[in-house]
Amino acid sequence: MDEKLFSARMAEYKSAVDKYLDACLLDTQCASYHKLTDSMHYSLTAGGKRLRAILVLEFCRICGGDVEKALPVACGVEMLHTYSLIHDDLPVMDNDDLRRGKPSNHKVFGEANAVLAGDALLTAAFGSLAKAELPADRICKAVALLSKRAGECGMVGGQVLDLAGEQLVLTEEEIYNVHRLKTGALISAACQLGVIAAGGTQEQLDAADRYAEALGLAFQTRDDMLDVLGDSGKMGKATGMDENKNTFVRLYGVGACSRLIEKETQKAIEALGAFEDSDFLKELSMKLAIREC
Ligand code: IPE
Ligand code: IPE
Ligand code: MG
Ligand code: MG
Ligand code: MG
Repeated sequence: MDEKLFSARMAEYKSAVDKYLDACLLDTQCASYHKLTDSMHYSLTAGGKRLRAILVLEFCRICGGDVEKALPVACGVEMLHTYSLIHDDLPVMDNDDLRRGKPSNHKVFGEANAVLAGDALLTAAFGSLAKAELPADRICKAVALLSKRAGECGMVGGQVLDLAGEQLVLTEEEIYNVHRLKTGALISAACQLGVIAAGGTQEQLDAADRYAEALGLAFQTRDDMLDVLGDSGKMGKATGMDENKNTFVRLYGVGACSRLIEKETQKAIEALGAFEDSDFLKELSMKLAIREC
């Protein structure tokens, strides 16, 4: 895909997401607990690639949907993702002091408040889905899907396995399962929510899931590589934090990880064959495979 077109669509999506999130945040200003709303704002507006929101919008577009109407869904996923990062950084989890180029939420607002800001963002995420001007059956389907992929059988379950694994040496199959749940599940939800917002077919839902499963594995493996090779300044988070984590980097080394990422990216691109207009997603997948932040 032409680089200018790609960048223009990326910028358009990102700015629509940022604008919508800003407007949602203004809505929460009336809450009497200013410290809580400040800390929600802090993490949500700290930056971030907005990848999951962009996936919702693009899958909606290629399935013939109205991108504007999918914005509350996309931003709901972004709120939920931001909550997962706030909790992920807590001392009882990964104990990370830097996120999105700023001190982690708990470093600024305290641990109890960071837990509660995460809780509030998770709750607001489902409120945002419910607000979408889409047919009620699509909203119900979207809420059920996000709940499943974000909860104990998805992202939260993956985080539990990730932490439990710090005391163990996991096999390839087990590491794959941790990645699939902690990272792949939400990426898959994002892609499928785009299809649902557009009223897409079961075949499109299945293809979006195949795409996301491969992309999620490549994405987390690249994240684990960047923990070793990356530049903390560019990434906005600390490096060298994963010594106790079960990653493919630890199991196989960085060279093998590059090959795994290439293979999974190829698989993701093949799954896009089910869609007519998938050049943007192809380009995005290739860029993510070699991302530096
Ligand atoms: C970080 O996700 C958590 C992982 C699943 C590796 P991102 O790399 O998408 O983080 P932001 O949203 O850009 O900050
Ligand atoms: C995080 O994986 C996955 C989440 C569900 C938040 P990591 O723990 O590797 O993410 P970073 O490196 O802190 O962003
Ligand atoms: Mg983690
Ligand atoms: Mg972490
Ligand atoms: Mg990481």
